[in-house]
Amino acid sequence: KRLILIGPPGSGKGTQSPIIKEDYCLCHLATGDMLRAAVAAKTPLGVKAKEAMEKGELVSDDLVVGIIDEAMKKPSCQKGFILDGFPRTVVQAEKLDQMLQNQGAKVDKVLNFAIDDSILEERITGRWIHPSSGRTYHTKFAPPKVPGVDDVSGEPLIQRKDDTKEVLKSRLDAFHRQTEPVVDYYSKKGVVANLPAEKPPKEVSAEVQKVLSS
Ligand code: AP5
Ligand code: ZN
Repeated sequence: KRLILIGPPGSGKGTQSPIIKEDYCLCHLATGDMLRAAVAAKTPLGVKAKEAMEKGELVSDDLVVGIIDEAMKKPSCQKGFILDGFPRTVVQAEKLDQMLQNQGAKVDKVLNFAIDDSILEERITGRWIHPSSGRTYHTKFAPPKVPGVDDVSGEPLIQRKDDTKEVLKSRLDAFHRQTEPVVDYYSKKGVVANLPAEKPPKEVSAEVQKVLSS
């Protein structure tokens, strides 16, 4: 299957991705994770992306289309993929369509994480992540066994630099202005499924299962 996850910051894309990946053996491409790794490694891409990310604005279409184009060539992504955080503009969606057309493929489903903005601040400010595995915790909704420590590796957890109340405002603004039109773009193609993303993670997973098995 070729899946796209769309939703505002904190809507649960990164939480559901590993579960969908396990169930369907797909490759998981998260542009945010790839960009954060590039920033940490100070690669030329990372240097270009850093400022926009810290402000909660979108990185340029050319940069992200470039990384997705490169990543999708991996053999593990040929049979199917989960795109988490891409496409985020209509231009990116059009570029993706072109890439897939060249392979005789198309997007099967767009999972739209529908949620009210008011819930997102608590989710974002309580999030802790284990950078090397991408495992995500929440102080209230998904606490680690030991505060600040990854359950599996015992390594320290960190908070994302853009997970502040202030930066969240610009991320949400970018979502409404630039990414919501992408949902309309795919609605016209009849591939959007809306998820009740405000429900607990297990219920969201059950809904994903339902959508993907239909
Ligand atoms: P990105 O990394 O994609 O961030 P985002 O879209 O803001 O999304 P998040 O990762 O914050 O949210 P999520 O939905 O994954 O939430 P999670 O599951 O972790 O992008 C970061 C930046 O990179 C962008 O601002 C931009 O600058 C740049 N960028 C990336 N892609 C780009 C692109 N295509 N074009 C241009 N620029 C791009 O959950 C959040 C918290 O809530 C966790 O603590 C979790 O435990 C908890 N939680 C999850 N689900 C539930 C639930 N159902 N109930 C209760 N708690 C829950
Ligand atoms: Zn995420």
